[in-house]
Amino acid sequence: MCGIFGYIGNQNAAEILLDGLQRLEYRGYDSSGIGVVTHDNQAITLKAPGKIQNLSSVVTSSSPQATVGIGHTRWATHGKPNEKNSHPHTDCLNKVLIVHNGIVENYADLKETLLKQGHKFSSDTDSEVIAHLIESSIADGCSFESAFVNAVKQLKGAQAVTALQSTTPSYIMTTRIGNAGGICIGHGNKEMFIASDITALVPLSDTITFLEPGHTAKVSQSNIVVHNAEGRLIRTKPQKVVHHVTNAGKGQFRHFMEKEIAEQPETILAAIGGRVDFRSNKIDLPEISLTKKQLATVNRIILVGMGTSLHAGMAGVHMIETLSGIPAVAENSSEFRYRNPVVSKDTLVISIGQSGETVDTLAAMEQAKLKQAKILTICNTDNSQATRLADGWIPMRAGLEIGVAATKTFLNTLVSLYLFASYLGNQTNYLADSFLNNSIESLVKLPDQIGQIVQEKKVYLDIATKTHEQTNLMYIGRGIQYPVALEGALKMKEISYTHAEGMSAGELKHGPIALIDNSLPVIALAPKDHFYDKMLNTMSEIKTRGGTIIAVATDGDTQISKIADYTIFVPACPYLLSPVVTSVPLQLLAYHSALARGCDIDQPRNLAKSVTVE
Ligand code: AGP
Repeated sequence: MCGIFGYIGNQNAAEILLDGLQRLEYRGYDSSGIGVVTHDNQAITLKAPGKIQNLSSVVTSSSPQATVGIGHTRWATHGKPNEKNSHPHTDCLNKVLIVHNGIVENYADLKETLLKQGHKFSSDTDSEVIAHLIESSIADGCSFESAFVNAVKQLKGAQAVTALQSTTPSYIMTTRIGNAGGICIGHGNKEMFIASDITALVPLSDTITFLEPGHTAKVSQSNIVVHNAEGRLIRTKPQKVVHHVTNAGKGQFRHFMEKEIAEQPETILAAIGGRVDFRSNKIDLPEISLTKKQLATVNRIILVGMGTSLHAGMAGVHMIETLSGIPAVAENSSEFRYRNPVVSKDTLVISIGQSGETVDTLAAMEQAKLKQAKILTICNTDNSQATRLADGWIPMRAGLEIGVAATKTFLNTLVSLYLFASYLGNQTNYLADSFLNNSIESLVKLPDQIGQIVQEKKVYLDIATKTHEQTNLMYIGRGIQYPVALEGALKMKEISYTHAEGMSAGELKHGPIALIDNSLPVIALAPKDHFYDKMLNTMSEIKTRGGTIIAVATDGDTQISKIADYTIFVPACPYLLSPVVTSVPLQLLAYHSALARGCDIDQPRNLAKSVTVE
């Protein structure tokens, strides 16, 4: 997902910006750019598609002399990854420079109004509207600072914006809207560094101001003035952050897994961006390369994957059957590949895999191809064997996942499956447009909802101190929460080495309930869905047999805590998207349990990030 870097001080801004963007490369991007203001108040923007070395060549050949500027690594959402769509974007007068991370959900309406006012646009992006909104407010007599505040107030969606004006180079404005799109500011000696995450600040500063969602900062060489969304002055105190060079990629986090869980609001945003037209409420998946006619012939869908990817596929079955009416099943790749499956040219096989290199999943794809099936892959790795083998691709857009335990790729797979199921239902005229409107509305709430969950720490520490010494755990769920129970158990197994079993709650009476006693904690997934009452009954049966219950429940549920020993609350969410919110607490539970047990969290014993051998 996109990266923002800004600098104001006495050094060569272009060099500082290039170095900062290089430290943000790990976030994934397809183009980059910088914008600086020279000593004679000229705004210069230099951009290049592809890797940062392309930008570096452009910067070297023009070597702009400036001590203030902003830079950006872009992950294309609206508009192809080319030079004109790269950030920074400018206004009509080339005086306002902006860089943006996130989605302006209402950009189409804003752009229409600005076009009517005579603004000329030079890109196909949503982000560019911000530069023109600032210009428009300045034209109405506002200062750059006020114009920036007026502009960002009009933006819908979760994002981060940083901007600079050529005629007021003594300060940079930056803001966060919602939980996605982090902004942290490194304090130097008469210089300040602004970045999307602390990784880019490691060699520059250990004194950091972290901007809170809804806050706006005016950053000058020696000062940061922060106001909240209501315009009230906020007293901020920079934090001393201990950096370890080896931890450079982790920023302020102890492990990559912790960081990757925390960045899920942004990565979900990346999965949605560029695929949802918020004005027409249409979903577009350009990379799937299957025509409407081809999709209309599909009469059966088989999702194949291993481990976490299989669990996502199991949740995807609910989404696909509900939103498209097409029969779907999820299968373990290693079983599918050897059972001589009945597959025809009217079967769509969707392989799921963050690496795109899992040997069993590749073999399953080859089997399906031999039998003339259409093949799609939901994958996080471009140019992998899976993306080369498939007829079409749905990029997970989760950015590089370094922790062996899959977290953000799991959530992005769920969102990708939901987008695909909605797209398929709409393409085959099964899904009414009205439903599409509601489902898009629910999708765009997710980054903020996940942001609320990942900020909570205490409940997981409390539970982990109680459960980390357990040798066995049970996870139960019904319907679309059943694969979440399996996934939660897998997370716990693979990073804390605690035996954990996931199962359908309906299965309990058929044997596993014999395991229940006061030594077996049970994690019960009981959000307010159509299985809620059944889950309460199951939890009562467990309780009466002495079991300890850790429930994942919906905010505002006043009943559940009468039965559960511990309750983790998550925001309300439509049924088909609920695994996105209920699985995050299970990631955090596994993380904190593994931490308490002193396990190697990012590189668990015996595991590999991609299983390329049988
Ligand atoms: C998940 O945390 C594990 N690392 C593992 O189960 C993984 O999901 C599985 O090996 C599949 O990998 P893939 O998504 O790269 O195909």
